[in-house]
Amino acid sequence: MATDSRIPGFYKRSIDERRAEIARRGSVDDATIDNAFVKGLTPEIADKMIENVVGLYALPIGMGLNLRLNDRDYLVPMVVEEPSVVAAMSNAARMVREGGGFQGEADDPITTAQIQLWDVRDPDASKNVMAKAAELIQAANEAFPDIVKFGGGAKEIETFDRGDGLFVVHLHVDVRDAMGANMVNTMAESISHRVAEITGGRVGLRILTNLAERRCVRVRCAAPADSLATDSIAGPDVRDRIVEASLFAERDPYRATTHNKGIMNGIDPVVIATGNDWRAVEAGAHAFASRSGTYRPLATWRAGANGNLEGTIELPLALGIVGGTIKVHPGARLAMQLLNVSTARELALVAASAGLASNLAALRALATEGIQRGHMTLHARSVAAQAGATGAEVEQVARAIVQAREITLPAAQRELAKIRA
Ligand code: MEV
Repeated sequence: MATDSRIPGFYKRSIDERRAEIARRGSVDDATIDNAFVKGLTPEIADKMIENVVGLYALPIGMGLNLRLNDRDYLVPMVVEEPSVVAAMSNAARMVREGGGFQGEADDPITTAQIQLWDVRDPDASKNVMAKAAELIQAANEAFPDIVKFGGGAKEIETFDRGDGLFVVHLHVDVRDAMGANMVNTMAESISHRVAEITGGRVGLRILTNLAERRCVRVRCAAPADSLATDSIAGPDVRDRIVEASLFAERDPYRATTHNKGIMNGIDPVVIATGNDWRAVEAGAHAFASRSGTYRPLATWRAGANGNLEGTIELPLALGIVGGTIKVHPGARLAMQLLNVSTARELALVAASAGLASNLAALRALATEGIQRGHMTLHARSVAAQAGATGAEVEQVARAIVQAREITLPAAQRELAKIRA
């Protein structure tokens, strides 16, 4: 399915009109959207997901638009509570689209389990474990045979002597389209006693690491300088200011933290919409950002030889498209269907692209008019809607109250009355 993700004026339409458009583009019917995104999760399903359920807690789902990645368009479902995030991502994705869209590649889907051992005093422990690597890998695969049928499975063993008798074995597993936590935990538990025998140690923890450094995605993009222009600042100037904003994050960990927060503004909503574990993604991203010993930005920006603004992002993204929440949560299932990705790696590439776009949008706003003006415009739209404006009225009322610098409900009600009169 070749979905065009460019939908001019989408934000001006009513919710029903937007749903109809997405249903058409995603080849689903309106009722499917209603069942998944409005009725969605029920208390009965929720009761099977977590414990002590007393109800449901809803968040908005919006569609991120304009995203083109590796020559394909994606409609990007985003679940988030923060205003501006969906609009900012879509806006920056449109600029990147003018430069040919995002390009990226993802590592094999390797999730790693750690087996902790205590009291390992044998100086040959590492050598002995590595000598038995094939046996351990085979035993791990026997504990989860289905994954081997799908072309994945345990692939490699690594050892780390952390000193003072603490010895750690890493089991690297190709988990194919799963996030892989259950799989690798099962495998680690199944081989841990054999590892203890080989090392002469005592088994400690057996659990995946969320620092999924073998499961990274790398995405790059080039936005033409002119696409970055604002009403009052020329494109090349905006480009240079964005590069300066990048340098700030590259040299200052306080800024890098907020810079990366802006990246996660694009990534987390996709992770949540698709029923994935955003805490795992967050933990991995920030550990990866610190791998040099200093907290660094996950994405950086430079001027390219042809004057374009070029951006790159790299981070670990352990996402699944099968199992877990996706199986039971109707909203996550439909989000996945609309995204229409066929592998977990493809989903990770989409999420990283949304992250890079969000970073671009934030830096462009911060380096030009500041972040508040855009927020105000969006806030004005929601005030207009609260005042009862619908369809095209929303934009008219919002524009009027922004111009009058009076973004309040009474002002919106007055403007709406004027328009209707
Ligand atoms: C707000 O949600 C995100 C920003 O703070 C990101 C940034 O500063 O780059 C605007």
